[in-house]
Amino acid sequence: MSRTETAIRAHGLYKRFKTGRSHIEVLKRVDFDALHGDVTMVMGPSGSGKSTLVATLSSLLKPDEGKVTALNQDIWNLSGGKRDRFRLDHCGFIFQGFNLFPALTARQQVEIILKYQGYTAGEARRKAADALTEVGLEMRMNMRPSELSGGEKQRVAIARALAKDPRLLFADEPTSALDGENGQIVIKLLQRAAKQYGAAVICVTHDPRLEAYADRIIHLEDGQILSDRRTVHAAAPADPPPPPSSARARPSLRTARPCSPSCATASSGSSPP
Ligand SMILES: Nc1ncnc2c1ncn2[C@@H]1O[C@H](COP(=O)(O)OP(=O)(O)OP(=O)(O)O)[C@@H](O)[C@H]1O
Ligand SMILES: [Mg+2]
Repeated sequence: MSRTETAIRAHGLYKRFKTGRSHIEVLKRVDFDALHGDVTMVMGPSGSGKSTLVATLSSLLKPDEGKVTALNQDIWNLSGGKRDRFRLDHCGFIFQGFNLFPALTARQQVEIILKYQGYTAGEARRKAADALTEVGLEMRMNMRPSELSGGEKQRVAIARALAKDPRLLFADEPTSALDGENGQIVIKLLQRAAKQYGAAVICVTHDPRLEAYADRIIHLEDGQILSDRRTVHAAAPADPPPPPSSARARPSLRTARPCSPSCATASSGSSPP
């Protein structure tokens, strides 16, 4: 996957919600695209439609009009089952509220998704450990969410999203519940997913401190894109340079994905995998 390749493109998106007897138009003919290897930030005031936009791009919420092409597939023309499979295979999600299962350890949170994808129990265990190590949680693998700090919980959510090696990574306010230091750790991990592994990272944020990590900033207001600019990269001087594109710095997370008979039918329902 080339780093300048378009990962996702949307054209003419409209989304309306019914409120009482009237409708509000939340997306008003939005055109959007994002590239592999880029951190694309979506910013704008509360209620401007940022979460709605990301939900339509990530196949969680059907737009009323318009087309979304992700990884060369017209996602809203896929059957429900194929769309679920697409999300399971290619999309990582990171939300403000972590969305972790209270009863599961950090390792189990990651393993469960990998098992859905068709990995054997042993492979899932190994890959989960690799992903948690990558986000610096090797000493916390057997802890449950109640025993983890907010920053650690968000890192578990990131490990869960990255373990499946997503080509599209959607984050909605991933740092808003975190202090500055933890917020920076999180955004650097997202940036690494883009720079090292070529994911298209689409991140909704209110946090102006994160702008320094963006390759591109799209400003949404009242359901329309007001500005779309590429940044001059002064970001993250402490980050290591990305390896050559042929390098596989995370081989254990990059091995060919097996597909068991069960994975052909596995479905994540309408919630993000
Ligand atoms: N399911 C829904 N039903 C009705 N209205 C909705 C629904 N989801 C969102 N809205 C409305 O759509 C508008 C945009 O919501 P959205 O969540 O996309 O905003 P946002 O830019 O993400 O805001 P914030 O920064 O506060 O998260 C809001 O006015 C919201 O009330
Ligand atoms: Mg929102």
